[in-house]
Amino acid sequence: MENEALLEAYGLFRAKVPRFTSYPPANRFQLDGGRRHQANWLRNVPDGASISVYAHIPFCRRLCYFCACRTQGTKTLKPVRSYLDTLIAEIIAVRHLLPRDLKMARLHFGGGTPTLLDTELMNQLCETLFSHFATTPDFEFSVEIDPTEAPAATLETLADWRMGRASIGIQDFAPKVQETIGREQSFDQTKSVVDALRALGVQSVNFDLVYGLPHQTEASLQATLEQVLSLHPDRLALYGYAHVPQMSKRQVLISADDLPGARARFRLAQAARAQFEAAGYRAIGIDHFGLASDSLTQAAASGALRRNFQGYTDDPCETLVGFGASAISEFREGYVQNAVATAGYTDRVRIDGLAGHRGYRMSAADRMMSDLVQGVMCRGEIDQVALRAAHPAFGREIDDTVTRLYLTYPDALVLSETGLTIRPEAASLARVIAAAAASERTTQGSMAI
Ligand SMILES: C[S@@+](CC[C@H](N)C(=O)[O-])C[C@H]1O[C@@H](n2cnc3c(N)ncnc32)[C@H](O)[C@@H]1O
Ligand code: SF4
Repeated sequence: MENEALLEAYGLFRAKVPRFTSYPPANRFQLDGGRRHQANWLRNVPDGASISVYAHIPFCRRLCYFCACRTQGTKTLKPVRSYLDTLIAEIIAVRHLLPRDLKMARLHFGGGTPTLLDTELMNQLCETLFSHFATTPDFEFSVEIDPTEAPAATLETLADWRMGRASIGIQDFAPKVQETIGREQSFDQTKSVVDALRALGVQSVNFDLVYGLPHQTEASLQATLEQVLSLHPDRLALYGYAHVPQMSKRQVLISADDLPGARARFRLAQAARAQFEAAGYRAIGIDHFGLASDSLTQAAASGALRRNFQGYTDDPCETLVGFGASAISEFREGYVQNAVATAGYTDRVRIDGLAGHRGYRMSAADRMMSDLVQGVMCRGEIDQVALRAAHPAFGREIDDTVTRLYLTYPDALVLSETGLTIRPEAASLARVIAAAAASERTTQGSMAI
């Protein structure tokens, strides 16, 4: 059980770090940097490497008020068709720059709503990807699915292309909450999509839920979670609602007065956690839960859990190639984000097939901080000994960071010979501590491009 007084003393209820996911945060990326390095970094991917591939579909037929994802509304498939032409051109151009001998270990379709594509468009996209990327024997294909936009034929097409994992958006089943967040979705509709996916042989089902939504109460959330658990998901993500109307304009439709306060939010998260654990799920990192049989749960247990811009992952690949507007690619050398707006993305692909816009070149010091932040977010610890061994040039900075954090959060951390561990009663501070570790690191030596 977490200690609310301790969390309050250390600023959890005042903290403004909801979007901090990994180091460097995307707001450190520099404009126009990505394009300069993208081609070289693609060429430098080692021959014989296994890579992950992400394709972003930034369209939805409905625009839920609460959503902070990069997406745009459309009533027809016309703009989607034209976007797909660009996406396919980008895939072909990027593949041309990558080494010939390459295997795709992971493929993820995200959005937006990838299942908005009809079978013809979905086949076109999959055909392009699978004909350009051979797969590894342990290849995994996952897709984000909105159950209100998941025609049987599209799901069948995805299953034919070996989709093995589905990530299903639920958020909350309470009618009043759904009405206020502009997202109606019945339990029956959700269940029939889950049943259909399982019948098609999809082995792993993940649900996205959100706490801190308008009008959500502990009782209403408990009722939602009872329904959710009756569907036996393999994995659950429980995100804290990020209310950022200055970034996501449609959120002005949600009144801040209807949102639970910081303490109420915390209690919602704690109650949900207790309910998941009572149902046999294990906590993974700061906001995921999984059955013992789930690969993310197993990665967390073995210390192999990682975090990238899409959240927690057990993906072991060093290279992630992102396709589509706003997609982020990860290379040994750094990050490249594609142009965010669909029009800008299309213009860039038209020039030379590449859409990189912003980017960040990782210095050796950044790599050290990235590992340090991964430790906090994935394992709740800073393993000072392992970090010093992996980054011998930064021993002093590692020691200084550990000392600074311990002096700032003494009652939340245990200091031992090997480093720092977050106390179980202060587990919710992981994000605050990770952001504090990263924020004061000198930028000297890091190269924003
Ligand atoms: C990219 S969205 C795709 C979901 C899919 N289109 C659907 O509606 O089911 C992925 C997830 O991000 C989460 N999300 C979106 N906006 C959020 C916000 N403002 N705060 C917290 N989580 C959010 C939701 O849980 C959502 O299911
Ligand atoms: S939650 Fe899903 S369907 Fe709703 S706007 Fe966001 S991406 Fe689109």
